Amino acid sequence: MQKLKLGILGSGKGSNFRAIADAIVRDELNAEVRVVISDVETAGILDLARERSNRAVFLAPGKFRTKLEPHVEEQLVALLKESGVELVVLAGYMRMIKAPLLDAFPRRIINIHPSLLPAYPGIAAWKQAVEAKASKSGCTVHYVDAGMDTGEIIAQVEVPVFQADTAETLHERIQAEEHRLYPEVIRRIAAR
Ligand code: GRF
Repeated sequence: MQKLKLGILGSGKGSNFRAIADAIVRDELNAEVRVVISDVETAGILDLARERSNRAVFLAPGKFRTKLEPHVEEQLVALLKESGVELVVLAGYMRMIKAPLLDAFPRRIINIHPSLLPAYPGIAAWKQAVEAKASKSGCTVHYVDAGMDTGEIIAQVEVPVFQADTAETLHERIQAEEHRLYPEVIRRIAAR
């Protein structure tokens, strides 16, 4: 069966990318990483991609803080298309996606978010859960739409929140689940 061609977008350390790449190496995921793209030049995800001999591209985002400049988003689409990408995987990507990318990959962009959406959308969801004294949180993989963490939910995993938790300890527990859930969801999409 043909491998699903992935384009990974991230702004941070890239542990979800690593989990996906490891699942591919272990033959648990019939996919290949065609390109890893970041809006942050020093992001760990780019180093991880280079270590694994994946194509790693820094795309300067332009003047906005929470989205790409439209001409940059067009470049991003061109890069993904020329790389043959079939599924766009947001893995710690900290910018909103707009029409150029959404229209180019309808229902083919997924994101992982560190809460049980619709609870705690947006930034530092693990911190929001601790501050709200929630008894449970988790992670969600969802399709991406124009909203902030609002797209159709594909899968969720719950984790407990303990009284003694700090934002850091909860984030760690959630990330351990993310690293199982994200490759599994991509595996299911690849098997369709
Ligand atoms: C993850 O917790 C993910 O849920 C959120 O950003 C974080 C990225 O972590 N969207 P990493 O860069 O994959 O380690």
